[in-house]
Amino acid sequence: MAPDAKAAGAGGVTAPTRTLIVGSGAREHALAWKLAAEPGMNEVVVAPGSAAIGTEPRVRCLPSIDPLDAEAVVAAARAISAELVVVGPEMPLAAGVVDALRNAGIRTFGPTQAAARLETSKAFCHEVAEAAGVRMARARVFSEGEEAAARGYVAELGAEGGGVVLKQDGLAAGKGVTVYDDTGLALDHVRSHLAGRGPGPALVVEERLAGHEASVIAICDGREAVALPASRDHKRLCDGDLGPNTGGMGAYSPLPDLPDDAVAGVIDTVHRPILAELARRGTPFLGFLYAGLILTGDGPVLLECNARLGDPEAQVLLPRLAVPLGPVLAAAARRDLAASVGAWPAGLPVLPGASVGIVLASDGYPATPKRGLPIEGIESAEAEGALVFHGGSIGRPGGGYGTNGGRVLTVVGRGADLARARDVAERAADLISWDGLQRRHDIAASLPPAPAVAIGAGR
Ligand code: AMP
Ligand code: GLY
Repeated sequence: MAPDAKAAGAGGVTAPTRTLIVGSGAREHALAWKLAAEPGMNEVVVAPGSAAIGTEPRVRCLPSIDPLDAEAVVAAARAISAELVVVGPEMPLAAGVVDALRNAGIRTFGPTQAAARLETSKAFCHEVAEAAGVRMARARVFSEGEEAAARGYVAELGAEGGGVVLKQDGLAAGKGVTVYDDTGLALDHVRSHLAGRGPGPALVVEERLAGHEASVIAICDGREAVALPASRDHKRLCDGDLGPNTGGMGAYSPLPDLPDDAVAGVIDTVHRPILAELARRGTPFLGFLYAGLILTGDGPVLLECNARLGDPEAQVLLPRLAVPLGPVLAAAARRDLAASVGAWPAGLPVLPGASVGIVLASDGYPATPKRGLPIEGIESAEAEGALVFHGGSIGRPGGGYGTNGGRVLTVVGRGADLARARDVAERAADLISWDGLQRRHDIAASLPPAPAVAIGAGR
């Protein structure tokens, strides 16, 4: 490899020149777009990627690779002599793809199957957070034979009047959580959550907390953490936070109520204690550690951990970064983030301004998305200055794209502030159409005020 390609990047770390990204969603599209544009990066290969991802300069896709097939991913990484592999979605993490890559001696950014349990088991996340002294909503975990006890706990929380939340233990693509105002309805649903689940944790019953949500994601090397700015996802399908939970219908960053300079406080009170606890247990967490928070009147409370970048959070965060990401991910993969932490104790530097991302989803999402419909207007949206990241699209034989999944596109507007970024995203999203397209029109429309007291100040 050319010596200049290995030049030290910002933060005293070196840039990878060939990177493999595992995944095919809009998050992986944003990652490929970001990494491929960085100095020293010769090629980004995405497995399997998609027709749209493959149109990015210096990006190539391997459509035949099954991202859950660890052997195939290892073979692909070897075939392209990848200096870094980044695993995007939760399913390959849960399947142990990172373990296989590391066992093969391939430098990989992502958690092992054991560390990814933070996301794959909400019960495990509660257990680790409690041991680490990180505050989460009050909750208890129940298994199949414990219906009476689960109903008793639902009734107990319900009697406090704040509502209850039922969460399936295990991966559910953001759709295994139901928030109830009506305790009676939650009681009725306990049985269906527990039936047929077999031994082990099945259902988490949690107190419902009130407040705005925030996603704080850090790049972790097992011990150290470097923060990305905070962002806010909108999980419900419809405007006004109505309708079913989804994987996420839109996001924005920065947050008035959790400004970029306050994120370090969250990393100190949430991410670092969790990293320390996992390291103590012999399962250090190396990868993107995502804390889903609710900002209560009493400070931030952890709702969930994910073991990866958020989608659509990544689509608004990555365009905000002012520095190359590849060298930082490579340093973390070498378990050597100290120089990056030293250079950027408050988190990765960002460009001035804001980004707002609107997810365009198929008819029938989140239950049964309709596929195969032609998509119109992507080029016009890009001509408005928006970035269009593809999740569930497919190339059509005659050119152009069709729908091929639930969340099809994320349209990202950038601007000097959130209002201007939102304006670009809205105008661009209005230009894209297909039959039955669903989207929200209120992403970043009403913003919470800045906090009176600095977040994290009380620790
Ligand atoms: P989770 O997958 O645990 O983040 O839950 C998905 C969504 O459900 C969250 O983003 C919140 O909107 C909502 N939610 C989860 N837990 C709670 C809770 N304890 N109180 C209020 N809302 C919650
Ligand atoms: N947008 C939430 C998630 O990625 O889990």
